[in-house]
Amino acid sequence: MSYRQARHDVPLVYEEYSDDINTNIKFNEYLPKDIIRQAPPNIPRLCERDMVKHFTQLSQMNFGVDSGFYPLGSCTMKYNPKINEEMASLPDACMLHPHQPDSQIQGTLQIMYELQNMLAHITGMHSMSLQPAAGAHGEFTGMLVARAFHEDNGQKRDQVVLPDTSHGTNPASAAMAGYDIVTIPSKEGRVDLDALAAAVSERTAAFMLTNPNTLGIFESDVTEIAKIVHGVGGLLYYDGANMNAIMGKTSPGKMGFDIVHLNLHKTFSTPHGGGGPGAGPVGVVEKLADFLPIPIAAKKGEQYHLDYDRPKSIGKVHGFHGNWGVLLRAYTYILSEGGNGLTEATEMAVLNSNYLRQKVEKYLEIPYPGLRKHEFVASGSALKKNGVKTLDVAKRLIDHGFHPPTVYFPHLVEESIMIEPTETESKATLDAFAAALEKVVGESPEVLHNAPTCASVRRLNETDAAKNLILSYRDYLAFKAR
Ligand SMILES: Cc1ncc(COP(=O)(O)O)c(C=O)c1O
Repeated sequence: MSYRQARHDVPLVYEEYSDDINTNIKFNEYLPKDIIRQAPPNIPRLCERDMVKHFTQLSQMNFGVDSGFYPLGSCTMKYNPKINEEMASLPDACMLHPHQPDSQIQGTLQIMYELQNMLAHITGMHSMSLQPAAGAHGEFTGMLVARAFHEDNGQKRDQVVLPDTSHGTNPASAAMAGYDIVTIPSKEGRVDLDALAAAVSERTAAFMLTNPNTLGIFESDVTEIAKIVHGVGGLLYYDGANMNAIMGKTSPGKMGFDIVHLNLHKTFSTPHGGGGPGAGPVGVVEKLADFLPIPIAAKKGEQYHLDYDRPKSIGKVHGFHGNWGVLLRAYTYILSEGGNGLTEATEMAVLNSNYLRQKVEKYLEIPYPGLRKHEFVASGSALKKNGVKTLDVAKRLIDHGFHPPTVYFPHLVEESIMIEPTETESKATLDAFAAALEKVVGESPEVLHNAPTCASVRRLNETDAAKNLILSYRDYLAFKAR
C-alpha cells in the first residue's frame, strides 16, 4: 500500500478571511462599563461551510490514532473507542456548569465515585483521587502526599530514590516537590538490589519505580524492593502509567506499593493532552488516604457529594471536578470492557509487543534478553556506520504510512527506538509495520536522509522548532516578519 499525506495550502483563517471582520458582535449591556470591550475583537466572519473546510483540510495533513498505526513507546497513543466520545458528548455530561450544586449533578458524582472505586480495585489501593490532570501531575501530587505523611509523623525526609530506567517525569516531579534526587544504576535492565540497599536511608521519603520500566521489562524483584524501602521507613511509589501491561494480572497494591498514579490515556483509552488536559488519578494505601487532594467524591446514604472536609489533605491540585470529560471516557471504557475485557486488553498488549519484538530483532539489535511487557526498545546504533541515525529511520517510516515510534528515549539504549504496538492493533498491521521497518533499515542513506517525502511537510528543523516556539498568532506574525 502506498502512502501520501494530503497537502493543502491552508492559510490561517485570519489571513484567508481578513477583509471580512465580524463587526456585528453584540456586547453584553449588563456587564460593568469598565470591563466591556470598546472595539470588536479581530475575528473574521466565517460561515459554517468554510470553517468545516478549513479544519477538515488541516486534519487531513495530520496523523492521528484514527488514521493509522501509532506505535509511540512510553507515551502510548492508541485507538480510543468512539463510544467514549459519544458518552462524553451527551448533553447531561458536557452541558454542566462546575458551580452546579451537588443535588443537581448526582449522576456525575456517582460516576466519579464509582470510577474512584474501580481504579482503586484495579490498582489494589484503598482510596483514589481523580483530580490530577496528567501522569506527571499525578506524580507531583503523590510526592506531596508522601511529604505530608512524613511531616505528619514528625519526619523530615528529603530524598527520593529512583532507578535509571524510570520515566523522565519521575525525577522531575520529585524535584518539583522539593526532594533531592538519588538515581541508582540498574543491572541487566532491572533495579540493582545492592545499589538500592546502599542508597536508601532515614533520609529516603520514597522510592519511585516505573513498572514495567522504560525498557518494557517487568521488575520481578518487587517484593525484595518493597522490603528494602519499607525497612528504612520510606514509601513505595508506583508509576502505573504502564498499567496496560499488568492490569487484571497483578496490581501495585499486591506488590506492596503505597502510592500509584495512572495515566488514563495509556490504559483506559482517553485522549492524551501532552501533560494535560488528561487525567492522572492517584491511589494510596489506607494510611495515606487522609492526605489525598480535595475534593473526593463521597456517598452518604443514597446521596453523592464532593467531600472537602478532609483536614489533613494536601489541598487542591485542580479546579472543580478534575478533567471530567476525560474521567467519563475512562469510566465508559472500563464498563464496556468489563473485568475480563480489561485483562484481555493487557494480554493482547503484551502479546502484540512480543510478537513484533521477535520480528524486529531479525534486523535491529534489541539489548537485554527475554520477554517484554507492553513495549520494547531496539537500537539503531549498527546503522551509524552507514551514516544513518535512528531519526532518519523514524522519518522514513512516515513515508510508509506509519507514525514513528519514540526515538532517543530511554537514554540507556544508544540510538534507541521504543515501540509500543498496544492491544488495539491487528496482526496484519503489525506484520505490515515490521515489513516496512525492515525495508527502511535496508534503504540507502540518501533516501533516509531525505525522508519524509510523502508527508504534508518535509524534514523539519526540530532544534529550531523547540528553541523558537510559535504558540500564538502574534508569535507567528513576528516569525513571518523576520
Ligand atoms: C511511564 C510514564 N510515566 C509518566 C508519564 C507522564 O505522563 P503525562 O505525559 O500524562 O504527564 C508517561 C507518559 O505518558 C509515562 O509513559
